[in-house]
Amino acid sequence: SDRAIGIHDLSFATTEFVLPHTALADHNGTEIGKYHVGIGQQSMSVPAADEDIVTMGAAAAAPIIARHGTDRIRTVVFATESSIDQAKSAGVYVHSLLGLPSATRVVELKQACYGATAALQFAIGLVLRDPVQRILVIASDISKYDLDSPGEPTQGAAAVAMLVGSDPSLVRIEEPSGLFTADVMDFWRPNYRDAALVDGQESITAYLHAVESTWKDYTEQGGRSLDEFTAFCYHQPFTKMAYKAHRHLLNTCGYDTDEAWLERAIGRTTAYNRVIGNSYTASAYLGLAALLDQADDLAGRPIGFLSYGSGSVAEFFAGTTVPGYREHLRTAAHQEAIDRRRPLDHTAYRELHGRSFPADGGDHPTPSQTTGHFRLAALRGHKRIYEKRW
Ligand code: CAA
Repeated sequence: SDRAIGIHDLSFATTEFVLPHTALADHNGTEIGKYHVGIGQQSMSVPAADEDIVTMGAAAAAPIIARHGTDRIRTVVFATESSIDQAKSAGVYVHSLLGLPSATRVVELKQACYGATAALQFAIGLVLRDPVQRILVIASDISKYDLDSPGEPTQGAAAVAMLVGSDPSLVRIEEPSGLFTADVMDFWRPNYRDAALVDGQESITAYLHAVESTWKDYTEQGGRSLDEFTAFCYHQPFTKMAYKAHRHLLNTCGYDTDEAWLERAIGRTTAYNRVIGNSYTASAYLGLAALLDQADDLAGRPIGFLSYGSGSVAEFFAGTTVPGYREHLRTAAHQEAIDRRRPLDHTAYRELHGRSFPADGGDHPTPSQTTGHFRLAALRGHKRIYEKRW
């Protein structure tokens, strides 16, 4: 079909708190250059005690509902790898908090950081069947590793909400996709843990292997050539990874790595991830948000997307920006979401990191910390109780 389908609106939210990497470096004696330059991270978003993937997801999606209403939304797909329940979709809580119509299907998707791309592709399939329908895709995650582990500086949290439909205002998503799956144990989180486990160097190797493999499949499927793209939105567990990945792709394709070319292709996609940290499923789409918000007019220009989810599944696909897209951006609101975060000191950060919910089914109100519109008010009788404040 030559019907244009893609991203009609995009909005993100992040947390109440932020930890600057200088605070982490002061605590553990790391040379700050390792964080600022070596992994390319300045600070990381830290959720308040009463924030989680639901409150972030609702906060990301609320402005989209305010602008477009709920009439055409018949599906909500919630992508996450920091799920709060083994059975119930986090999307059902968001559906309720946002007052979406009962005639809606809601589901949660998981494959590590790749989940949002699966959600986007499923959404496109639904729009192909019914071009009037719009799908609300929400990617929301809290990246958490053990204190004092190598992964600790690559934590973060955010949610991206995207409205997917026909005749989109922002980005048309193209066929084909390049696909890749391999059974590797580079990063995983058993059900009994709330912090992920990772083999750091193995995960970088697995990511790079996935990049060259998805690109090979994309080429075999008849995709665009590398030099047609104006920028590339990679999954960014830390911003330096996007540079590593793109250098690897250029080398695989037989190009010499030209630093200026690398910076042009990647630099503008890193602005939000650099200060938010890893947001797992949301990360590549925060890259897109940064690119659209920062760049001069990109109208009609192809953008490459490389989504990687440990374990592992990857997909490469292209999108083209729609003429007039800049009128639909949320640049000021996005900057505000970053600027409004309150800095934590290292002690307060460790306290928040160590919090866990008692599993006794009792009544456990959460401390009132967030100043956002949605909060997790309590855990009561094994149920999560959410609250909306306008
Ligand atoms: N100044 C400048 N650079 C410095 C420096 C200094 N003073 N000190 C060190 N560096 C550089 C190093 O040279 C290195 O750069 P290169 O990789 O380009 O050589 C970089 O800083 C990092 O140093 P190390 O490799 O020694 O760091 P580490 O082993 O302590 O940890 C990490 C790095 C493996 C990424 C770790 O943070 C980690 O395990 N993170 C979680 C896993 C992860 O993010 N993996 C990414 C791929 S998997 C994925 O993408 C899915 C996902 O979201 C998890």
